[in-house]
Amino acid sequence: MKALILSGGKGTRLRPITHTSAKQLVPVANKPILFYAIESIRDAGIRDIGIVVGDTHEEIRQAVGDGNRFGVRITYIQQEAPMGLAHAVMISEEFMDGEPFVMFLGDNLIKDGIRPLVKEYERSGANSQILLAHVPNAREFGVAEVEGGRVIRLVEKPDNPPSDLALVGVYMFDRNVFEAVNSIKPSARGELEITDAIQYLIDKGYSVESHTITGWWKDTGKLEDMLEANRLILDGRETQIAGEVDATSTIEGRVATAKGSKITNSCVRGPAIIGEGCVVEDSFIGPYTSINDRSIIRGSEVEHSIILEDSQVVGIGSRLADSLVGRNVHISRNCKTPRAYRMMLGDNSEVSVI
Ligand code: DAU
Repeated sequence: MKALILSGGKGTRLRPITHTSAKQLVPVANKPILFYAIESIRDAGIRDIGIVVGDTHEEIRQAVGDGNRFGVRITYIQQEAPMGLAHAVMISEEFMDGEPFVMFLGDNLIKDGIRPLVKEYERSGANSQILLAHVPNAREFGVAEVEGGRVIRLVEKPDNPPSDLALVGVYMFDRNVFEAVNSIKPSARGELEITDAIQYLIDKGYSVESHTITGWWKDTGKLEDMLEANRLILDGRETQIAGEVDATSTIEGRVATAKGSKITNSCVRGPAIIGEGCVVEDSFIGPYTSINDRSIIRGSEVEHSIILEDSQVVGIGSRLADSLVGRNVHISRNCKTPRAYRMMLGDNSEVSVI
């Protein structure tokens, strides 16, 4: 079996972070989301992975390379524009070379991995297997209508969902999917939808099995989802202190610190992770916080947040919470008069002041 990861598209819901960076490379617990997908596929015993890339291809190629460090072989498949998930499948036909494959959306996270699901598909001999999950907000997903245990209809982001069963971003197909993606027409939003391709398979009598997953799964497209994914991953981590912690600091609960990080006169209350070369001084780091490499937190409190590389939070006087802070961002207190908030914010930034 081979695998296909979709890492093109536009990260509109995570702007401004994704103005300068691929959404699949935004880290959760200090590791890019895309890396979790690659590791899940590798752990399912698959070595040949095609990654569909778009405008952000250079950054993705640089982060992932040829796959050697993950123990897999990566082939990049360039998509000229985000014309839909089924379009991404269409342009991957040559790479698949007739083999069945698992398709993994590069912004999805499945904590328990996909090994048993891939094995189940291989045993079943079905033409396709889809994964479903009960969700409270089905309108935001592809939704399945199931009758007598069989999927009879799939609809993409419906106004009136026929069920609460969302399509998870991991699909398994054999070569017949190429007939489907070459037969369907673009949807009202102008994309070739994978839901339409799967509907085509069902309508033509191909076997499409479904499996409802019970473990957690996240589509990390939005800020709240990123923070939730960060919480869920941090919850599963153990304490591992590789950096320096001075005698006046306290570490409570499960905290991981990487080499070269320095914690001085501070309290870090886990679950939390602090990356390489970070400085935490005279500060409180609260639960569910990920601070990425070379960032500096000084005289500040940070909780339930993700801070990317090379950023600084200095002397802010109140607590930063529920936040996603990009790379090389500086947040500091302004003591000048007249007292005012001074900001330089990119397009589509969101700030809540107190
Ligand atoms: O997360 C599960 C949902 O993913 C499913 O329930 C939906 O049926 C499915 O359409 C999809 O919906 P999204 O709106 O979340 O898809 P998004 O546009 O975010 O794209 C998913 C991934 O695929 C993302 O990593 C970007 C990549 N992509 C997307 C398009 C449209 C491509 O590589 N090429 C594309 O043309």
